[in-house]
Amino acid sequence: ALAARAGLSVGRLKISVVTTAKYLIPNLLGEFCQAYPNIEPEFQVGNRAEIIQRLKQNLDDLYVFSNPPRELDITTDFITKNPLVVIAKQDHRLKDKQSILWSELHGERLLMREKGSGTRYAIEAFFRQNGMEMQSPITIASNEAIKESVMAGLGISIISQHALSHMALGNLIELPVKDFPIPNSWYWVLPKGKHVSNAAMAFREHVTKGLSSQIAK
Ligand code: PGA
Repeated sequence: ALAARAGLSVGRLKISVVTTAKYLIPNLLGEFCQAYPNIEPEFQVGNRAEIIQRLKQNLDDLYVFSNPPRELDITTDFITKNPLVVIAKQDHRLKDKQSILWSELHGERLLMREKGSGTRYAIEAFFRQNGMEMQSPITIASNEAIKESVMAGLGISIISQHALSHMALGNLIELPVKDFPIPNSWYWVLPKGKHVSNAAMAFREHVTKGLSSQIAK
């Protein structure tokens, strides 16, 4: 059935994803391009606010969000989990502690994504819901720059665990802070009623299959 669909799916596939999803989707894109040489994917990456703008203008065939804009008329389908974890430099003073309280980190500089970031949105909601206090953060508008800055000893941060998966081991550590990770997930998002192109459907199925085989490994 997939091959038959591939035959139909000639043309472009425009996908827009939030920045954390770039640790998820490109891994699976290579195989997809091999399986569907007729489909030409075009891949946009932006923060949540930017991808919301694209969604509102109906610019793409498919969207990936972690914190879908539920106030809009959309459909969402779960992809996989995207936990947000506390990270620190490898020689952090609490590196050997088994369980850390957030309050023990309160004196440290917190590096956070920019306003408009879904990661920041989820972190702020989590602190509000749990009545936890957050030090005033320093804003750094990129996951990569945050990782570099944490490694350089500028402070600690809270980022997608998947953003760590391609790092050289040992440069950064995840701190076992009580009540973390912050639960979060990725979703396929489309404006309600939008026709799902064959190419978009094939891509969704490919990603789902790829993820389940990764989990099985
Ligand atoms: P962001 O969104 O790139 O806007 O932080 C990612 C996410 O919500 O996981």
